[in-house]
Amino acid sequence: MSKTIWITGAGSGIGKALALAYNENGNTIILSGRKKVQLDEVASLLSSSYVLPLDVSEEQAIATVVAEVEAKYGSVDILINNAGVSQRALVTETSNEVGRQLMEVNFFGSIHLTKAVLPLMVKAGKGNIVGMSSAAGKFGFPLRSYYSASKHALHGFYESLGLELKDTDIHTTLVCPGRIKTDISKNALKGDGSPQAEMDPGLEKGVDVTVCAAKIKRGIARNKSEIYVGGGEILMIYFKRYTPWLFRFIAKRVSPK
Ligand SMILES: NC(=O)c1ccc[n+]([C@@H]2O[C@H](COP(=O)([O-])OP(=O)(O)OC[C@H]3O[C@@H](n4cnc5c(N)ncnc54)[C@H](OP(=O)(O)O)[C@@H]3O)[C@@H](O)[C@H]2O)c1
Repeated sequence: MSKTIWITGAGSGIGKALALAYNENGNTIILSGRKKVQLDEVASLLSSSYVLPLDVSEEQAIATVVAEVEAKYGSVDILINNAGVSQRALVTETSNEVGRQLMEVNFFGSIHLTKAVLPLMVKAGKGNIVGMSSAAGKFGFPLRSYYSASKHALHGFYESLGLELKDTDIHTTLVCPGRIKTDISKNALKGDGSPQAEMDPGLEKGVDVTVCAAKIKRGIARNKSEIYVGGGEILMIYFKRYTPWLFRFIAKRVSPK
């Protein structure tokens, strides 16, 4: 059966790959992000899509676009809160303003859109809500203090929401990618809010974005509460959980880029 899937941050990287992965079975993909030109480019590759520009950090704009989606589609089957910005700066270098910006996009942007869409899913009696966390949502890492905090915060929120929805057919999933080869490090913010504008060597060797999207799609179809996708760095999630001393031993020695 065809589905309506809303993806934020759909103009590039993992969001774009997810849009392409869901381009089947008569699905309609709603594409959101700030750069309309990029969204239009992705739309041109899809059979059925709707471009809906949105800055997820603008709370008022969320109400407007959700009303538009409700009028057009009633509800959405899958909401993928993929929009996010990373950080490449020490705590001491990162201004409070940039720290708040990372929280506004990665945490509040995700949960505000989820809260606005949830009543539509409740009315429809079904849905999947996806939060895009990170391996850095499972452990802290140098140069990622606010980013990691914003992703950790998603776990508290979506795990609570998932439990509140336990008797419904609405499911929450948190995706924790490790290193996926996208422009995330180029777009990552330095302490003054400017983009790093260069690719991290570690990300250059990251998992292919199409492979990543396929794994995320499979996990969502199985209503998994968490999806881990990446290379060897995913082991760090398990080290942190079961042998925290080993996690710290390795984390102190790994290059943060
Ligand atoms: N690549 C990795 O290794 C990796 C690892 C862990 C987690 N992740 C997570 O995966 C998600 C996607 O990242 P990516 O790797 O695909 O990097 P990306 O290519 O930089 O994608 C980030 C997307 O978020 C959108 N975005 C940023 N700020 C936004 C805002 N205020 N409102 C709406 N959209 C906004 C961007 O589009 P606009 O600029 O047009 O708004 C962009 O399309 C992020 O949440 C990231 O934290 C990635």
